[in-house]
Amino acid sequence: MDWKHGYFAEKGYTFGYYAETMPIRLRWAGLIQGHACPFTGFRYLDAGCGQGLNLIMAAVAHPDSEFVGIDFLPEHIAHARALALSCGVKNVTFIEGDFVELAADPRVLGEFDYAVCHGITTWIAPEVKSALFNLIGKVLRPGGLFYNSYNTFPGWLGTVPFQHLVLLEQRGRTGEKALDAARESCKVLGECAPGMFNALPALESRMKALENQDPAYLVQEYNNHFWQPVFVSQMIDDLANSKLNYLGTATLPEAYDNLLPKPVLDLLDRQGDAIVREQLRDYASNQSFRRDLYVKGRRQPWPGELATLIGDFRVGVSLLEARPAAGEPYAIRCGTGETKGERKFYDAIMDRAGAGADGATIHDLINRRKDPRDRGGVLQAVSMLLYGGWLVPLLDVNGAMGAAVNRHLAAAVTSGAPYRYVSLPRFGGAAPMRDTDWFMLDCRCRGVPAKDWLVSVNAALRRLNRGILKDGQPVDSDEERDRILAKGIEEFCAVRLKQIECAGGA
Ligand SMILES: C[S@@+](CC[C@H](N)C(=O)[O-])C[C@H]1O[C@@H](n2cnc3c(N)ncnc32)[C@H](O)[C@@H]1O
Repeated sequence: MDWKHGYFAEKGYTFGYYAETMPIRLRWAGLIQGHACPFTGFRYLDAGCGQGLNLIMAAVAHPDSEFVGIDFLPEHIAHARALALSCGVKNVTFIEGDFVELAADPRVLGEFDYAVCHGITTWIAPEVKSALFNLIGKVLRPGGLFYNSYNTFPGWLGTVPFQHLVLLEQRGRTGEKALDAARESCKVLGECAPGMFNALPALESRMKALENQDPAYLVQEYNNHFWQPVFVSQMIDDLANSKLNYLGTATLPEAYDNLLPKPVLDLLDRQGDAIVREQLRDYASNQSFRRDLYVKGRRQPWPGELATLIGDFRVGVSLLEARPAAGEPYAIRCGTGETKGERKFYDAIMDRAGAGADGATIHDLINRRKDPRDRGGVLQAVSMLLYGGWLVPLLDVNGAMGAAVNRHLAAAVTSGAPYRYVSLPRFGGAAPMRDTDWFMLDCRCRGVPAKDWLVSVNAALRRLNRGILKDGQPVDSDEERDRILAKGIEEFCAVRLKQIECAGGA
């Protein structure tokens, strides 16, 4: 086998950002599930870091810590290094390396407090997977936290025939052509001989979703020979062999069993075995993608210490997520459906967290409750508000690196780069951006006077041969486009730019 070990490496991956992998969010997820990770001067490993944007977003939020990304695709490492260098991010190192080779001599990497694998472990050959688990098990410090997100059953069961066809079509064809051929065949079959589709209703919705997904994601999702979703119980057993023991979830609503329907909760409660419980939970939600946390030796603080660590955690209000309409609950989509956060209770937390630039600590939020038993309710509400995007974690950090990253990204997007996330260092991560938001941020960074932004944004659109959409349709008239853009500039300055500035990103 060649250096790829059967991995699909025909095309570079997307320039993604994954909030759950950010250290501040890992810390919160760890704390509410009883594990404390170090939070200053730590070392963080991203194994299979892809284009490196996600790791850079993490690094700028923690200038006193050290970040290392590994990937075997030279194209990814070339991009990641160039980006870090142009943005002046010095606390990140990108290594062109193969999990199998590194597992033979893991000590060259040193030790880490956090290790992250986003979208890796169910796309690689079995021998690569065991080398990777070995590597993580060796380089993680005792007490370290491992984040592992992956495809799982039962959610992916219905898609197996489609992925199999993509692989068959790949004989003698490029990845994208194979995907297209498999889609075309499934379309014909769905219309004329729908037996398989009737038996696997999820297949149809998965095929529909393909229409709007980034081709760079699709080929690495479906064209991998070793694409193999697993049951959670298999993953937990596998990792235990490398001293990595299941702690819980990084998908915050999934940490709260009380959100499950009562009969399911009763079913789980009757189940004595923790792994069977976890498996049943996935059956209940038809889980297809898990974000798991594992520990190499749990760092379980004493109860008083844990309460202090949780109490000191600080949150603020995001400007990007409007509160629900009057009288409506905070609706959050998760596992088994939608959960509704009680309006008055959640509003009280939002009011307190939004009262000043420094937000509120969990101590502040708990101390305002009359009944001390509300503590659990406050923690759950904060988790849900963080997950829903209404709250953001707050860090005491100088945003200089984030501002430099954003300046560079804005200029790059204005000359055609595909970046979609802006660094928000004080909030410990990033937020999505549209092209036109970047063009406006670029104006702000270059000191273009406000009255000239519209001309500048229009010029960028023309130069890149892009238009704008209204209700999903292209806007053809110049006046209409100017009206929409002028309104967009107003909104950008009132909300998104304000958020970027509050977060130290500009
Ligand atoms: C689906 S991508 C995910 C990338 C990144 N974590 C993200 O989510 O944007 C999987 C990554 O694993 C890398 N990879 C696969 N096999 C590898 C190996 N044996 N050694 C190092 N990197 C590998 C690929 O190059 C690719 O960047």
